[in-house]
Amino acid sequence: MNVVCLGATKGMGRALARAMAERGDALFLLGRDDDDLKRSARDLEVRGAQGTVHTAYCDLGDSETFSAALVDAERALGTVDTVVVTAGQFAPQDDLEEDAPRLREMLAVNFTNTVLFCERARKTALKSGGTLCVFSSVAGERGRTPVVLYGASKAGLTRYLEGLDHRYRRAGLRVVTVKPGFVRTSMTDGLPAPPFAGEPDQVARIVLRAIDRGTPVVYAPGPWRHIMAIVRALPRSFMRRASF
Ligand SMILES: NC(=O)c1ccc[n+]([C@@H]2O[C@H](COP(=O)([O-])OP(=O)(O)OC[C@H]3O[C@@H](n4cnc5c(N)ncnc54)[C@H](OP(=O)(O)O)[C@@H]3O)[C@@H](O)[C@H]2O)c1
Repeated sequence: MNVVCLGATKGMGRALARAMAERGDALFLLGRDDDDLKRSARDLEVRGAQGTVHTAYCDLGDSETFSAALVDAERALGTVDTVVVTAGQFAPQDDLEEDAPRLREMLAVNFTNTVLFCERARKTALKSGGTLCVFSSVAGERGRTPVVLYGASKAGLTRYLEGLDHRYRRAGLRVVTVKPGFVRTSMTDGLPAPPFAGEPDQVARIVLRAIDRGTPVVYAPGPWRHIMAIVRALPRSFMRRASF
C-alpha cells in the first residue's frame, strides 16, 4: 500500500504509520516540523517501510500548504492508495472559552482545514479511487459539557466524512472515519484517564484492519462503540447535569 500520512509524528498517527511500515507499506509523511518529520521517516525505514520515506511541509493551520505537499507525495509514491489524517488539536473547554485565537485555530485545524485538505486529496492523490482515513472523535457524538467546542469541530468533521462516503463510495473512494475514545497520547497528557482508556498501538491495529476492509466507521478501542451507544441514548435533561 502507498500511503500519505498527515500527523504521523506523534500519538496514534505515529503508531499507525509504524504498523504500516512493519508490514512493508510505502509511506510519505506530511507535517509542520521538519526535524520531527525526518526523525519519524528514519524510524519508519528502520521498521521496514518500503523504500525511502520522504516528507513534505504541510501545516493544517494553513490551507495554502496543502497543494504542494500532495503533489510532492504523488510524485514520490507514484500511485497513492491511502491518505491518512490523524493531525488534530485539542484544548480544554475553559481554555477555549477564554482564548479566542486558540479557539479559532482549533476550529480551523479540526474542521475547515481538514475538510479543505480532504477535498484536495480526493481530487488529486485519490482521483482514481483509494482510501481516505480520517480521525474524528467520540466527542462529536453528543454535545457534552466538558468538550462543547472541540466536540463541535469533530461533529462537523464526522458529518462531512459520512457525506463523502455516501456520495463517492460507488465511484471508488473508501472513506474510513475513526472515532477514538480516550487514548493515552501527548494530546491527553495530564488529563485523568477514564475507564476503557486505550493505547496508540491498540488503536493502530484496529484502524489498519478497518483501512484494509474499507470499514466506514470505526470506534477505537472497541468498547467505545458500546459506550457511545449508551451516551447517544441519554436524555437531554441528564446530559445537562452530566460532567463527562
Ligand atoms: N488522544 C485521544 O484521546 C483522542 C480521542 C479522540 C480523538 N482524537 C483525535 O485523534 C487524532 C490523533 O490524536 P493524538 O492523540 O494521536 O494526537 P497527538 O499525539 O497530539 O498528535 C497530533 C498530531 O497532529 C499534528 N498536528 C497538530 N496540529 C497540526 C498542524 N497545524 N499541522 C500539521 N500537523 C499538526 C501533530 O504534529 P506536531 O508535532 O507538529 O504538533 C501530531 O503529529 C486527533 O485528530 C485527535 O483529535 C484523539
